[in-house]
Amino acid sequence: LVIRREDYTPPEWLVPETSLDFVLDPSTTRVTATLSVTRNGDHASPLRLDGAGQKPLSVTVDGVAINDWRIDGEQLVIPLAGAAHVVETQVEIAPDRNTQLMGLYASGGNLCTQCEAEGFRRITYFPDRPDVLSVYSVRMTADRTHFPVLLANGDPVAQGQLDDGRHWATWHDPFPKPSYLFALVAGDLAVNRGRFTTMSGREVSLGIWVREADLPKTDHALKALELAMAWDETTYGREYDLDVFNIVAVDDFNFGAMENKGLNIFNSRYILADPDTATDYDYDAIAAVVAHEYFHNWSGNRITCRDWFQLSLKEGFTVYRDQGFSADQGSRAVKRIEDVRGLRASQFPEDSGPLAHPVRPESYQEISNFYTATIYNKGAELIRMMAAILGPQGFRAGTDLYFDRYDGTAATCEDFVTSMEEGGKVDLTQFRLWYSQAGTPRVSANLTYETGVSPDGDRAMLRLAQQVPSTPGQPVKSPMVLPLRVRLFGADSGLPLTDERLILFDDTLETVVFDGITERPVLSINRGFSAPVVVESNRTAADLAFLSAHDDDPFARYEAMQQLMLDTLVASAQGRPDHADVIAAVANTLDNAELDLAFVAEAVLLPSESFIGDQMPIVDPEAIFRARESLRRDLGTQLEAQWRTAYARAEGQPYTYTPEGKGLRRLRTVALGYIAASGADDAADLAFAQFESADNMTDRMGALTTLVSSESGIRTTALDIFYSQYCDNALVLDKWFQAQALSSRDDTGAIVAGLAEHADFSLSNPNRARSLIGAFGANQRAFNNMDGSGYRFLADQLVALDRLNPQTAAKLLPPLGRWRRFDSARAGLMRAELERIVATPGLSKDLFEQASKSLEG
Ligand code: ARG
Ligand code: ZN
Repeated sequence: LVIRREDYTPPEWLVPETSLDFVLDPSTTRVTATLSVTRNGDHASPLRLDGAGQKPLSVTVDGVAINDWRIDGEQLVIPLAGAAHVVETQVEIAPDRNTQLMGLYASGGNLCTQCEAEGFRRITYFPDRPDVLSVYSVRMTADRTHFPVLLANGDPVAQGQLDDGRHWATWHDPFPKPSYLFALVAGDLAVNRGRFTTMSGREVSLGIWVREADLPKTDHALKALELAMAWDETTYGREYDLDVFNIVAVDDFNFGAMENKGLNIFNSRYILADPDTATDYDYDAIAAVVAHEYFHNWSGNRITCRDWFQLSLKEGFTVYRDQGFSADQGSRAVKRIEDVRGLRASQFPEDSGPLAHPVRPESYQEISNFYTATIYNKGAELIRMMAAILGPQGFRAGTDLYFDRYDGTAATCEDFVTSMEEGGKVDLTQFRLWYSQAGTPRVSANLTYETGVSPDGDRAMLRLAQQVPSTPGQPVKSPMVLPLRVRLFGADSGLPLTDERLILFDDTLETVVFDGITERPVLSINRGFSAPVVVESNRTAADLAFLSAHDDDPFARYEAMQQLMLDTLVASAQGRPDHADVIAAVANTLDNAELDLAFVAEAVLLPSESFIGDQMPIVDPEAIFRARESLRRDLGTQLEAQWRTAYARAEGQPYTYTPEGKGLRRLRTVALGYIAASGADDAADLAFAQFESADNMTDRMGALTTLVSSESGIRTTALDIFYSQYCDNALVLDKWFQAQALSSRDDTGAIVAGLAEHADFSLSNPNRARSLIGAFGANQRAFNNMDGSGYRFLADQLVALDRLNPQTAAKLLPPLGRWRRFDSARAGLMRAELERIVATPGLSKDLFEQASKSLEG
């Protein structure tokens, strides 16, 4: 069954008020829902409420039990005569048998909910669509010993004890909200409390709820929340609106976190941190996700989505907002580099494969499959481009208008763009193509230089051409608006020859003229990654090396180095190795004392194997691996002294979670990797010494990641020590599984197959499943083993996981859909596995949609 955007119709019934009564118990929970419903418009249709998997017990209308309700598919259909009624339903659900982790489920002995996108219908009968906004009151009754804490959306109202060992609590959320933002938690939890005074003087009580033992690991998340609240006031003028803001961490969760009004629920990996168990990367991700969910209070909750085709309205914008927050906490340049690397690692492949879809999709079978890098990360790039076109004041005027005008409503992407046009006083007619056309635009940029054409200097001409590749269902594309930040530098002087220009390239072909040029110019283009496109240019290796040393835009500098490395690696994988330019450029960067260390660490890192593969007509995983290893070895041996110097910089420095501390550690691990790549005799010992003496998880994991790919016997020693030290900490054990699945050893496939049988491996915990299966799918060489064992392993795991948790299974499928990018032998093996998945009896529609689309593509 395909749902189409063009078929949208407004709801036939509205639900101004909802009151829910939960009698909670892990095996049988009884839910009584009292809905005040009003007929929306002039029609005679019955009330249709969505449901899934619950057992209906009774229905009353205006206080009278009725029998003429029926179940149609999974909907409850109730005939109603008047324009307004009170409908009460009673159902039973079984949280402890809920392995999908959608709706009300059990995790670690506690009960919690996840409703986005369509989980609320698994709790009670309701019009489960985002444009039905209701004011909720919730009552919960539960055993006092097992569930001493009872939380729901909004503010607490009352609580009390019952004689039978149970207690109850009521909560009220004054803000009308869609059902996907409903949440409750019942459990044995401890709280880390904070407080925040908003700009208008409202006192907000903050709470982070976790298992008692995890309480010491919640300070970082609480601090991040306070910073995010202040940032949204200064940056967007947005203030929090309730008296309490609670966050609960749970171990079993399908994705990162959820922005339920006043009661965010998080995957514990995005809350819990201390230096011994969390890496710098984890700390950064925690702050980003805490901020992301908090920012949703305005971009998502106060203004929600009219329908799920508009998902990027809240997700793209909120990702853009959390990226801005993180950029302001540390290095803006490094944050941009990380975000672009992420975009290229997941969104670009998605956009060029069988699952490509526009930022505002036209159709879906299962909406859970559309929580994608395209909706989130490309969506954020769209907002970034509009911000660039409007400028800071125009953009703020646009967001102010958007927040004011659509507050309390369920809006569309079109509403957002209209606000930008009016607030920023620009015409975005053609820009809207970014919402409807899938595919990553390709830009070719050719700079030529003519001397003697005018008395006041020479002329440079930039010839631009764009092409948007065809994608499934969209064979022909129109040219898009590409905001390209461009600047020219003098090849001899190393100085800028022009100011930075923002070129709005909106045609198939265009020529931009630069007059008054005084020396041979070098092109710096798409600075800051101003447009999410692929740029091909006529720049030579020497030009790229020059930019990597002289460009004043740090991203462009990084990008020049990446391009130089990519060109080198692709040529090398095709049998033409020439490492000299890369080695000189890396040496130069390592020597530059003015650069911040985190930036240096990013700049000297080689592109990933899969990103190299994306540049080749047919991916040859073995050739790519060998080319990359050989460049790593040359860099390691020829710059060994510099790596050792860089490595030693962190020596004796105490651990601090500061931009400087992070930079030192990041460079240290990168340097260790190159020392190991050089084949130096002491490399394994050096890594092991770091592993043993580390007083923080960043250094420990840095060492383990190096050791896990080595042939040295110390490898198993380190893995065993790590295991025995952390086997009781699920989040750290995930790292142990993941590191082995990402190893570059020849026997990784066999090791991963063995780990799938490990006593600590389990498909029912999504983090654990992703740490092994997801990481293995991202290991290009191991996964694409010629014998097809990687493909078979993934398919077996997905079919097994699908029976428990379809959403998580479907998310792990995409590596199998890349078959068109490989040789015919591999493509045939991948297709065979996809066909086997599609033919599996009882397959979920989640996995079916992903697998069948991957076959067609
Ligand atoms: N809205 C949540 C967030 O981005 C994620 C919800 C994901 N839902 C899903 N069905 N995949 O913060
Ligand atoms: Zn989000």
